[in-house]
Amino acid sequence: MSKPAILVARAIFPEVLHRLENVFEVESNQDDHLFTPQELIQRLQGKAGALVTGSSRIDGAVLQACPDLRMVANMAVGYDNLDIPAMQAAGVLASNTPDVLTETTADFGWALMMATARRVTEAEHFLRAGKWNKWHYDLMSGADIHGSTLGILGMGRIGQAIARRAQGFGMQVMYHNRSRLSAEQEGQANQARYVSKETLFRQADHIILVLPYSAASHHAVGAAELAMMKPTATLTNIARGGVVDDHALIAALRERRIAAAGLDVFENEPAFAQDFLTLKNVVLTPHIASASVKTRKAMADCAADNLIAGLLNGQAKNPLW
Ligand code: 8YV
Repeated sequence: MSKPAILVARAIFPEVLHRLENVFEVESNQDDHLFTPQELIQRLQGKAGALVTGSSRIDGAVLQACPDLRMVANMAVGYDNLDIPAMQAAGVLASNTPDVLTETTADFGWALMMATARRVTEAEHFLRAGKWNKWHYDLMSGADIHGSTLGILGMGRIGQAIARRAQGFGMQVMYHNRSRLSAEQEGQANQARYVSKETLFRQADHIILVLPYSAASHHAVGAAELAMMKPTATLTNIARGGVVDDHALIAALRERRIAAAGLDVFENEPAFAQDFLTLKNVVLTPHIASASVKTRKAMADCAADNLIAGLLNGQAKNPLW
């Protein structure tokens, strides 16, 4: 029996590719060329499956043009690049990679939030520019993390992992989410307190965004929310570009209406709003929250396992519909 044909749309770990080659006829992209939507459609011709990342959009037009497609495995926990209702209507299975990246992503949320509050990158740029010639009583002074109030918008697996870490810093945790956690889950999340979105924005000292992107969460943080924040507060986004109105954020940072922001994700990334580069009070990273070697390997393995289970047994391990 011939092996099903698949497309691995981006470069991945060679050992994961070899594992897939044992089971499938694989077209790979180890040069990591970024396919245009038309190229993606062309590469998917005759393919039963695809392993993709957030840079590949699978929507109605792609599905219609690729009638052989039966399964798409996303190498990410977020899946705003997949049109799930359209995939369901077309009978194309979909999967993501939850759990394997939770702790690594929570670690990075903390790293970014702490770098933002304590001005770590600004201080390093100052030092590298040769500007450090004397101690000064408020040189690069920032905001304390310990003892402050952490506000988490989006309290899924990663939000809860971030909350657990707050215990060591003696922080109060408040959160807002579409639905409230159980009392037991709140207890495990450092006694997190469920509050309205407005209370979170008005009262938290450090706000971190971990909610999935959808039409409903588009610009969940815009001018109105930024105006509610304390002028001393920080905002950290490890969720998705589009959750924040970047132009409203640039204005708030420029006018110092909030203290600082830490951003791992951007609208229209990687072509992000260049005005961010003119601001000192923002820490910028290139969408790396899940990027530990171990976790990226686990994500690739998870996506491969899903594709194998979905195409060979008709049931993905982490199905999205
Ligand atoms: C991925 C992510 O690196 O899992 C997610 O949702 O944002 C990141 O871990 C990225 O989406 C690549 O697919």
